[in-house]
Amino acid sequence: MTVHTWLRRARRTLLAVGATTALTAALIAGTETASQAATQGPCDLYASGGTPCVAAHSTTRALYGGYGGALYQVRRASDGATRDIGVLSTGGYANAAAQDAFCAGTTCVITVIYDQSGRGNSLTQAPAGGAAGGPDNLAPATAAPVTVAGHKAYGVYVAAGTGYRNNKTNGIATGDQPEGMYAVLDGTHFGGGCCFDYGNAETNNLDTGNGHMEAIYFGDSTIWGSGTGKGPWVMADLENGLFSGVNAGYNANDPSVSHRFLTAMVKGAPNLWAIKAGNAQSGGLSTYYNGVRPNVSGYNPMHKEGAIILGIGGDNSKSSSGTFYEGVMTSGYPTDATDNAVQANLNAVNYQTAAVTSSNLTVGSRVSLKATTACCTGDYLRHNADSTVAISPLSSASSAADRTDATWIVRSGLANSACLTFESAAAPGQYLRHYGFQLHTAAGDGTAVFNQDATFCPQAGHSGQGFSFQSANYPNRFIRHYAYTGYVAGDGVGGNTWDSAASWSEDTSWLAATPLS
Ligand code: AHR
Ligand code: AHR
Repeated sequence: MTVHTWLRRARRTLLAVGATTALTAALIAGTETASQAATQGPCDLYASGGTPCVAAHSTTRALYGGYGGALYQVRRASDGATRDIGVLSTGGYANAAAQDAFCAGTTCVITVIYDQSGRGNSLTQAPAGGAAGGPDNLAPATAAPVTVAGHKAYGVYVAAGTGYRNNKTNGIATGDQPEGMYAVLDGTHFGGGCCFDYGNAETNNLDTGNGHMEAIYFGDSTIWGSGTGKGPWVMADLENGLFSGVNAGYNANDPSVSHRFLTAMVKGAPNLWAIKAGNAQSGGLSTYYNGVRPNVSGYNPMHKEGAIILGIGGDNSKSSSGTFYEGVMTSGYPTDATDNAVQANLNAVNYQTAAVTSSNLTVGSRVSLKATTACCTGDYLRHNADSTVAISPLSSASSAADRTDATWIVRSGLANSACLTFESAAAPGQYLRHYGFQLHTAAGDGTAVFNQDATFCPQAGHSGQGFSFQSANYPNRFIRHYAYTGYVAGDGVGGNTWDSAASWSEDTSWLAATPLS
């Protein structure tokens, strides 16, 4: 018997006797080498527990030890060609280098997220629905870089307006049938609109009534429900309500959670459902709700329809945002022991943030930030004599004064040395900062608020081009141009005109260009 087989049998036995706790599973996982760990995917654990995956989606890794097929498909802008991105080895991790080679010199979007369960429940561009037109946007393929088990991979970056769906599924729970689901999400990327979801929804893109959905929701919407703190919360979208507990509204047992890698779970059976979550990188799961169905007409029994959505609500509401790395849906209500084993598997694969930088963004270098939106590809972020910040068309032929106003010296972040501060090349000692969410240049005054206002954390560009710069003190806001003026802006959230979701991904993506001066 090989070590793998022995481990698999041992784990199955433990699951069978119900003795598997997160600790036991973690101990077993801990005794495996990295490649052996990959031989047990979450879907092997669900199968061992008697609740097999009927949909398994991930752009980062195989979710079965035996899966060696394509994970997702990308389409490049230059010629419209598509390419399947597979795994480095059976049961292993995404071949990100294949994507990088295929998309070199252009941009790519994710067109298909394949179902690894063999049931054909793949996700593709969501069509129009009752709440919003379509088709929805596709996620840029490079906007959510990570490492998983040390391998580079890309997640699915959902800006408001982006969505995936499958209305013709096979094996997904319908009616009041039991199911479970988990997703690994970026707990720092969320919005307050409706609805960043993953799970079971209507097959006709319409709100067909209470109980017609059962999906994981993540975000800080308070339209229907909330938990403690300011959010974001993991809730269940059961249609016409985001539930943080037995009924919509406030439920004190649902805490704000923002782990960089968040495990979110929802499961449902006749008159029973649960919300769980945890830090995917370490530790176990917490149960935020476990009990009966809402005592409002329509939710007991449920009327699940069995479509699958990602990034949107059941009626294609697409006003929210989030990032998805992997997730599954099961047939049957998983046991807590199985949930714990899946969480231990996630701990073992060790999702990590990928470093995002360029030589022009290293501390001490000079950089010019070039806009990428189609309107404005010749424009650079610059300050004016009155200290306001704007974009304007510049080139090497522009005046020295203009070029210097569009050149920044990269400094270590005043409030966080892992991030950056931009000092004006024209006015040393003056820094790019936001004030009232508008960008200005101003002399540093040493206060904590100034330092925060002047600190920005670079991320992969939201549109798939260049970089996006996150405000250190308002992490939902990024350096943006809007009406040719500089702001920090949220993706459809924030309440200012410049927080418009239209063009947000493009307006917040900047090339770290050769300094104009
Ligand atoms: O339940 C919340 C949302 O309400 C659903 O996602 C959507 O279909 C409806 O608008
Ligand atoms: O800043 C120029 C354009 O103004 C932006 O692309 C858009 O957000 C707004 O209409």
